[in-house]
Amino acid sequence: MRSFCTGNFFSFSAGMPRMAIFSLVMLGLAACGQSSNEGDEAASAKPAAARVLTIKFPHVTAPGTPKGQGAERFKQLVEERLGDRLKVEVYPSGQLMNDDDSMDALAFGEVQMIATSLSKFDRLTTKFQVFDLPFLFPGLEVVERFQAGPAGQELLNELADRGFQGVAFWHNGMKQFGGPRPMNDPANAKGLKFRIMESDVLQAQILQIGGNPQKMAFGEVYQALQTGAVDAQENTWSNIYSSKFYEVQDYLTDTSHGYLGYLVAVNTEFWQGLPADLRSELNDIIIEVAEWVNDQAADINEEMKQKVADSGKSEIVELTPEELTAWQEVMRPVWAQFEEEIGADLIQAAQAASN
Ligand code: SIN
Repeated sequence: MRSFCTGNFFSFSAGMPRMAIFSLVMLGLAACGQSSNEGDEAASAKPAAARVLTIKFPHVTAPGTPKGQGAERFKQLVEERLGDRLKVEVYPSGQLMNDDDSMDALAFGEVQMIATSLSKFDRLTTKFQVFDLPFLFPGLEVVERFQAGPAGQELLNELADRGFQGVAFWHNGMKQFGGPRPMNDPANAKGLKFRIMESDVLQAQILQIGGNPQKMAFGEVYQALQTGAVDAQENTWSNIYSSKFYEVQDYLTDTSHGYLGYLVAVNTEFWQGLPADLRSELNDIIIEVAEWVNDQAADINEEMKQKVADSGKSEIVELTPEELTAWQEVMRPVWAQFEEEIGADLIQAAQAASN
């Protein structure tokens, strides 16, 4: 029988209140806990070293994306090197829960690991908004320098006392705009309804170009584009291809105006409760996987851009240098709007990574 512990037991409808969904998730996980508790009783009779802990790792993107591949690689390395002590269950494509619910579940310790878009931590901290500022980062190498520096590393601990111990940053890639018209001229965005992630910076960015921003979960985007509930969206090539947004968008414009990356976080209590040797070996794997994901993220996005082009279903528009400058100028006022919330120091540290 297919169970909640191994796959899609519940299917969540878009209209369901979040708390109801979360209660279902908690019930389901409690049920999983019961069956594994039976195992735990048996396990407690064994020496402590023989007990196998489980890391549940839900995420929302397809297995072929940078995050999907990173999650699978993490599972593979953990089970190869630490399989007698740790097991990893990866649930891709939102099959277990959406991002909001997985953040709640991590905070409650019902799942042990997530890799959630930095934009979606907006309700918990304004610091991560730095990653959403349009055209702040010219490319992934600059983001990586910022994340590796002292200001970036400090951000890993930003939410540790609220249950989210950051252990790594993973890239997805740079975001592109899709819609019913080419977006080579920012004026073409006027009046369009744009799906955005749950971030006030992204909301301000769309208002700045005269669009109508709609915050929406990732799993709802394809249908919203298909039915016309929204006209336009911003995302990376890997998400646009693997979630088939290109099938329901006439034009995709390579604006690379913003960054999409993830905080890989573990439940703080779970992390601190691990035996020191296990935590240290797990940390080594986390660092190795982060390097692996970040090394190939740009290539994965390029490959998927090519697949979109090959499909012939959506036209890809490239910006001229003049058009790029026009986009940068029109969006720049968003920085000043958020400078106080984010902190001028943090924005300067991000800018300095370009030098
Ligand atoms: C993700 O890459 O995790 C999803 C991003 C989105 O919601 O657009």
